[in-house]
Formats: sequence, C-alpha cells, structure tokens
Amino acid sequence: MAKGHQDKIAVITGGANGIGQAFAQRLAQDGVHIAVADRQSADETVKLVEAAGREGAAFDCDVSSPESIAQLAANVQQRFGRCDILVNCAGVFPLQPFEQITYADWRRVLSINLDGTFLACSAFAPGMKQRGWGRIVNMASSTLGSVVTGFTHYVASKAGIVGLTRALATELGPYGVTVNSIAPGLTRTPGAFARGPRAGVATMEEEFERTAQMQAINRSEVPADLVGTVSFLTSDDATFITGQMINVDGGRNRT
Ligand SMILES: NC(=O)c1ccc[n+]([C@@H]2O[C@H](COP(=O)([O-])OP(=O)(O)OC[C@H]3O[C@@H](n4cnc5c(N)ncnc54)[C@H](O)[C@@H]3O)[C@@H](O)[C@H]2O)c1
Repeated sequence: MAKGHQDKIAVITGGANGIGQAFAQRLAQDGVHIAVADRQSADETVKLVEAAGREGAAFDCDVSSPESIAQLAANVQQRFGRCDILVNCAGVFPLQPFEQITYADWRRVLSINLDGTFLACSAFAPGMKQRGWGRIVNMASSTLGSVVTGFTHYVASKAGIVGLTRALATELGPYGVTVNSIAPGLTRTPGAFARGPRAGVATMEEEFERTAQMQAINRSEVPADLVGTVSFLTSDDATFITGQMINVDGGRNRT
C-alpha cells in the first residue's frame, strides 16, 4: 500500500478504458476509493475497484462541457464528500495529416484534451487547496518529444497540458497540492487500436513493433507499465515533486 493512500478519494476521468482503467484498479489496490468520470459506461472499472475492496462509482461525464463537469463535481461531493486525487486521463488522439485538420477537428481535440483537463482542475483543485492536501496527475504524451506525423492538434493539446501542469503547480504548491504529468509512449489500449496505424504502416501490430524498436526497452508498452508512476505521484512519498513531466515510455524519449 502506498504511503498516504488509505481511504483517499480519487476522481479519474476517462477511467472506463485503457490507461485510466488501469489507474483506477491500481489506486483502489492502494486503498483509494474511486469515482470514474467517462462518457462511456465505466461499470467494468467499478467492478475492478470493488474487487480490490474499495468503493467505486461511475459518473457519466463529458469533460469538454463545463455543465457536465459541474454536475460531476456535485455528484462526487454527494457520494464521496470530497476529491483528494484528480487524474485527468480522458483524451482523444485522432490521426490526421495537418492539411486535413479542420477547425472543428482542432477544437474537438483541444476541447477534450486541454479544456477538459482545465475544467476538472477548476472543479476539484479549490477543495484540495482548502484542505491542504491534494494530488493532480495529467496525461502528456511521448509524441511531444519524438518525430511523429499526423498529430498536430494532439501534440498541441499535450503541450498545453504540460504548460498548465507547470503553472498550476506553482499556484498550488504552497497549499500542499502537487500537479504533475505522465508522458506514456505508444500503449496498447482500446483507443490506440481504434485510431489505426499511421501512414505507411500496415497494421497496429506493425506500428507497435516499429515503436518498440525505437525504445531502449524493445517491447510494446501496456497500461500496467504506467500504474506504478501514478501510484507514486499521488502518494505521500512524492510530496516534494511537482510541476514535472515523467516519461514512462521504455526509454524512447530521454529529456
Ligand atoms: N494509448 C497511448 O498510446 C497513449 C500514449 C500517450 C498518451 N496517452 C494518453 O493517455 C490517456 C488515455 O488514453 P488511452 O490510450 O487509455 O485511451 P482510450 O481511448 O483507451 O481511453 C480513453 C477514455 O477517455 C474517454 N473519453 C474520451 N473523450 C471523453 C470526454 N469528452 N469526456 C469523458 N471521457 C472521455 C473514453 O470514453 C475512454 O474511456 C489520453 O489522455 C491519451 O492521450 C495515450
């Protein structure tokens, strides 16, 4: 069990699938009760949380909507009384060459990935600040530091998230609230398989294999590779770490 986790309350956006679901399961095993906010059914995640002996609840939420986030905050307050840990995992990553990205495409990616992270921080950070303890973990991406095409809107949204993370860490530092981000490499999740392979690559399996060869550790990344980092960053062992982006990508980026 991680230090300081017992009976804390976490809100995990995008926790119905992939990395967010793995985070929910691990934090529950650490002793944390979990509220999952997703626009898809998160019943499976709630079962994993309950199997770990913690309370879980699923809330229907579109993180890009201020009204939906306000409703989420009210639901979490009613069910759990507070939010100690916020993990912003909801995200989309459509693959589109720059010339094909319309303004609507751009706005969709920015509004879910970046605005959604901002809105959830706005909803839950004030309570953390007031109580003098809090942890926020945002999702960056290894695409920020590597040569990838077809991701201009996505990389811009992740750069925004890293900036938000650094700036918010400065404001919340005096109040016992840390704000960090995790940058995964290409990870085997439903979302990664749904987006399909990039131009010139036949299948996702081939893309995973090619990516593995660009890493120091030559196998593809899975959500389980990321859970130790979220556990650590949200624990009392990470009290003095804030404003950071942690690469968890098998050594693909070494910045
Ligand atoms: N999988 C990768 O290769 C990879 C790499 C780097 C970073 N990431 C980041 O990790 C995070 C999770 O990615 P994943 O691969 O697990 O994706 P995923 O598609 O498997 O899961 C993402 C979840 O977010 C939810 N979601 C999407 N839009 C939402 C919205 N508007 N409101 C609420 N929920 C919404 C989806 O319903 C889904 O459950 C994302 O921020 C992604 O950018 C993923």
